[in-house]
Amino acid sequence: MKYQNQLKSLSWAAIALGMSYPAYSQTSLKSAYQKDFLIGTALGTSHIEERNETANLLIKREFNAITPENIMKSEVIHPEINRYNFDPADKFVEYGQKNNMYIVGHTLVWHSQLPRFVSKINSPDSVRLFMTEHIKTVAGRYAGKINSWDVVNEALNEDGTLRKSVFLNKLGEGYIKEAFELAAKADPKAALYYNDYNIEQPAKRKGAIDIIKKLQASGTKIDGVGIQGHWSINTLNLKVIEDAIVEFSQLGIKVAFTELDLTVLPNPWDLRGADVNQNFEGSPKMNPYTAGLPDSVQVTLAQKYEDLFKLFLKHKDKISRVTFWGVNDGHSWLNGFPIRGRTNYPLLFDREFKPKLAYKSVLELKSAK
Ligand code: G3I
Repeated sequence: MKYQNQLKSLSWAAIALGMSYPAYSQTSLKSAYQKDFLIGTALGTSHIEERNETANLLIKREFNAITPENIMKSEVIHPEINRYNFDPADKFVEYGQKNNMYIVGHTLVWHSQLPRFVSKINSPDSVRLFMTEHIKTVAGRYAGKINSWDVVNEALNEDGTLRKSVFLNKLGEGYIKEAFELAAKADPKAALYYNDYNIEQPAKRKGAIDIIKKLQASGTKIDGVGIQGHWSINTLNLKVIEDAIVEFSQLGIKVAFTELDLTVLPNPWDLRGADVNQNFEGSPKMNPYTAGLPDSVQVTLAQKYEDLFKLFLKHKDKISRVTFWGVNDGHSWLNGFPIRGRTNYPLLFDREFKPKLAYKSVLELKSAK
C-alpha cells in the first residue's frame, strides 16, 4: 500500500516521466549505506571502457565496489596455456583505482567458463599445474590492487556434496585448500572468499560450512563467504537467508552478498540460483512484460528489496558488502537465463538508467532513520 501511494506521488511520477539521472536524487546508495557495508555492482566491458556516459555517472555515483562480470574468468583472461589476456582486467582494475572503489576479483577457480585447452588436459599433474600457474599469475599480477578474491566459485551441488568438476575429479577435495593457499601466497593482502549460489539453503549451506571449517582447521586463510543472491520475488525466503548470515558469521568470517538480483519473471521449473548450464526455449507466457513492468510488480519488487535490505541492516556487523549483479535491467544476465531473449527487471535501475521504486525503497530505509 505504502508503495502503491508513492508510485502515484509527484516526485516519482517525475522520474517515471523521464527526469534524467542524476537530477532526481540528493543522495546515493553508497553514501546512504556508507557506515553499514559496501554497495557494489558487476561491470561489463562497456562499463569498464566507459562507453556510455549515463551508465558511467551512475556507477561512480551509486557504487563503491566493483566486480568484473566476465573478464577475469579463466576462459577470458587465460585463453591459451601460455597466453594471458590481461588488457580488459587491467582496465577494470584501473577503473576501480581511479574511482577509489573496492575491487573484487572474480574468479580464480570455477568449473565453468574454463579455457578450451583445459578440457584436453588429462593428468592430475597437468590440472594442478594449470591451477597453480593460473592463480600465481592472475592473483600475482594484481597483488595489492584487488581487495578481495572469489577464490573458489560454485564448488557445491544442491545437496551439499562437492561438485564433480575437473578440479575435484583430478585433484580430490584438497584442491580447495590448495587454491586458497595459492591465492594467499600470490596476494597476501586480499580478502579471500568462497562464493556460491543457494548456499543460504540448509543442505548446500552445510556443505559450505564444511568447506570453511576444513580450511580453518588446517590453518588456511579464508576471510569470507559470498552468498550470490540470485533470487526471485516469488520465492524470496528471508528466514533461510537470516539463518545463513548468522551461521556463517559464527565461523568468524564475513558474509558478502556478491551477485544480488531478483527475477520478476515466471519460473515454472522453480529454478533457484544460477546453474549456467540450464537453458530453456521461450514462449510469450514466459515473457509477459515486454511492454513494461506493471505497477503491481514494480511495487512487489520494491517491497522485496526493502525486506531484504532491512535484514541486511539488522546484520550489518556481519556483512561486508552487497553487490548487485549488473548496473541496470538492460544489462542483466537474467534477460538471457534460463530462457533466452526475455525482458527482465531484476535490478534497481531501469533500461534508461533511471531509478526504480525499488531504489527508493532501499534508500528510504536509511533516510527514515
Ligand atoms: O563474449 C562472447 C561473445 O564473443 C559471443 O559473441 C557471445 C555469443 O553468445 O557470447 C559472449 O560470451 C558470453 C559472456 O557472458 C559475455 O557476454 C557467454 O556466451 C555467456 O554465457 C556469458 O554469461 C555470463 C555467465 O556468468 C557465464 O560466464 C554472464 O554474463 C554472467 O552474468 C554470469 O555470471 C555468473 C557468475 O560469474 C557466477 N555466478 C552465477 C552468475 C550468473 O550466471
